This record gives sequence, structure tokens and C-alpha cells, in this order.
Amino acid sequence: MNTFTFHNPTKLIFGKNTLSSLSKEVEKFGRNVLLVYGGGSIKRTGLYDEVKTELSKINAVVTELAGVQPNPRLSTVHEGVDLCRKHHIDLVLAVGGGSVIDCAKAIAVGAKYDGDMWDFAERKAVAQGGLPLGTVLTIAATGSEMNAGSVITNEKTEEKLGWGSYYAFPAFSILDATYTATLPKDQTVYGMVDIMSHVFETYFHPDKNTLLQDEFCEGLLRTVIETAPKLIADLQSYEHRETILLAGTMALNGVLSMGVRGDWATHNIEHAVSAVYDIPHGGGLAILFPHWMKYNMHHDLARFKRLAVKVFNVDPTGKSDEQVAEEGISALRAFWDSIGAPSRLADYDIDDSKLELMADKAVRFGSFGNFSKLEKEDVMEIYRRAL
Ligand code: NZQ
Ligand code: ZN
Repeated sequence: MNTFTFHNPTKLIFGKNTLSSLSKEVEKFGRNVLLVYGGGSIKRTGLYDEVKTELSKINAVVTELAGVQPNPRLSTVHEGVDLCRKHHIDLVLAVGGGSVIDCAKAIAVGAKYDGDMWDFAERKAVAQGGLPLGTVLTIAATGSEMNAGSVITNEKTEEKLGWGSYYAFPAFSILDATYTATLPKDQTVYGMVDIMSHVFETYFHPDKNTLLQDEFCEGLLRTVIETAPKLIADLQSYEHRETILLAGTMALNGVLSMGVRGDWATHNIEHAVSAVYDIPHGGGLAILFPHWMKYNMHHDLARFKRLAVKVFNVDPTGKSDEQVAEEGISALRAFWDSIGAPSRLADYDIDDSKLELMADKAVRFGSFGNFSKLEKEDVMEIYRRAL
């Protein structure tokens, strides 16, 4: 293990009817609220009205920023920062999925910065403060509700970059699986792929003596694998929605990655694809991760074998490590196929015309990946195999 400090300041409020704690949580920070939400799902589901009712209990003065896009845009962040300054906002409240939360994080931190928040994404500046942020989550996927990361798309430069800051941790997040039950099947699947991918990014690390971390990862993966088909068969199931919701938070709130340096190359490779083609993040990961695995398995066959045996129930008897590792990767592909995840870039009409452009974006800050370092040519090859 590496030495580590674990400090997650987000107050997680989880379970049925927990929205009733919203007014109390908001009140701690003030009454001027910037309510940030997406393209309208919260209005269709009735959550918007419930949130407004809660906020009215403390006579909150609510300014709204609606229409945050999936793969949230920098221009929307700028709009939000302007609103914060104009209306002397005390708290930014994100109601929605990872895109809404990521956008709200950039707004909250951007509002306390004199320059352009994009400087954080370009590693030109480090945040020194931020407005408090609260979230009400409506999709189990990114873990953004309890972490310090955010991913923003600069539509002018066609770049999608992650950035992070202690000041981007939500002060509180309210998670009631009831509000995720309206998610359509495709978004439900993308979310589960994203959750599993966060665990894979953590699991493929170069560090030693990580038995507990590895067991946590395997347990989380087995839980998603067991629950996913049941949820797909019954999208309204509160019980299964709740299991996946907690899995999503735990997959990327820092608990699994204590003392390990996860790989995170596949996320970088995927962000370059969604920067250019605006595809759903989980869809891109479903296509790319098995290819990254095949391409890199020889760096540590024992780890891939362990995954195959402990998570995908591959019987290793009489087989070489390589065979077992490959069977594990095939089992992952088959599992994602079985729940309806995409498997080829062609599923999003992506051909080979922009592979180099995407690879250049992936290596913007140089070679990357902690389990195995990837250069531009490696990225190109993974894209080619995924066509
Ligand atoms: O915009 P609305 O109308 O709300 O519709 C959304 C959107 O179209 C819809 N939706 C959300 N909750 C719903 C719902 N529809 C019906 N019922 C509900 N309860 O779902 C669509 C997708 O929403 P989005 O927020 O984009 O999905 P997700 O949570 O997967 O977020 C994806 C974004 O997060 C980034 C991704 O790159 C991508 O930009 N990530 C953020 C991370 C982080 N901050 O830690 C880590 C991740 O690896 C990821 O990169
Ligand atoms: Zn992700």
C-alpha cells in the first residue's frame, strides 16, 4: 500500500423520503440558492416540484439554471458563475445526474475564482475556494455526489477534461432510489457500466499488499453483476435501484482507492471519444474497457486471472494464466452484452476518420495510466480494435 490520507467531507443522506431533510441542510448555508438541473427529467418526474416545496419551507430565494447538457458544457458553467455573482448565491444545489453535479461543482468553485474555471481543467491554476454545494442525485453512475471530481466539455476546443478540488466535494448529498426509478433502460445500463468501470480503474493498480482493497472491489463488482439483470428485468424495483445507487457512490468516493494508485487510462481514452462525438460516457466505456484489458493483460496476468476467478467464476483448472485471464475478459464482454451495453464504436456511427484526433486529445498531458503507461500509438491501437 501507499501512504494515504482519507478525508471525505460529504454528508451522505441516503434512503426513502430523505428529501425531507433538504430544507434543513440548505438553511445552514443561507437562503440564496442557485438551483441547477438538466434538460427536464426532474420536471417530468415531479422531483422539481418537491424540491421547490422543500425550499419554500425556508423561504429560499431560488435562481434557476436549467438545461445542463449530458457532457456538460463550459458555456453553461460560465452562465452559472455569472448568476452566482449577480444574485449573491449562498449555495449551489444540483438536482440531477453526474452531468448536472459536475457542472454545479464547476460553477461553485468557478464563482470563487477571478479567472476562467477552465484554468483548473488545463492545470494552469488550483482552486482556492468554492461556494457550498448540495446535491439531490437522480442517476446511479458517476459517484460525483460524494467525490471531488468534475468533468467539463469545452465545446469551442472540443475537449472534455476532468479536474478536481477539495472545494468541489458536495457539503451534502441526498440519495433516494425512488428518484432513479424513472431512468430509462439505456441510461440505467450506462450507469452500471460506469460504476463497474470505476472499480476496474481502481482494481488495476501497480501496488502491493492490497488484499482488502482488492476484496472490496471484487465484492462491489459481484454485487453489480448479481443485481444488474434483476434491475433490467424490473426497472421500477426500489430494492435493486437502492443497491445500485449505493454501489455507485462507493465505487468512487475514495474508499476503494485507499493506498492504491488506480490506472484511469480507459476514462481518459473515453473522454476523448465523448469530447469529439458527444456519446454517453458509460456507453463509451462499455466499448473500450474490454479492449484496454486485452491490450494490457500481460502487464500483470495474475491480477487478470484473479478477476476472472473471483468475479466471473472462471474455472482455472488445467488452463494457463493467459487463458483464464482471457476468459474473464470475454465473460465481462458477454455480461455487458447481456444487459444491452454497446460493444463497438460503430454502434455510435464512429468510424476511423478521427482516431488520430481523439488519440491526440487523450495524450494532451503526455503518456498516462498507472497500471500500464499508454502512448499515443497505444491509444490508436485500442481505438482501432474497438471500431
Ligand atoms: O438532463 P435530464 O433531463 O435531467 O436527463 C438526464 C440525461 O439526459 C437523464 N436523467 C438523469 N436522471 C434521470 C434521467 N432521466 C429520467 N429519470 C431520471 N431519474 O439521464 C441523462 C444522462 O444524465 P447524465 O447526468 O449525463 O449521466 P451521468 O450521471 O452518467 O453523468 C455523466 C457525466 O459525468 C461524467 C461523465 O464524463 C459525463 O460527463 N463523469 C463524472 C465523474 C465524476 N464527477 O466523478 C466520473 C465519471 O467517470 C464521469 O467521467
Ligand atoms: Zn466514469
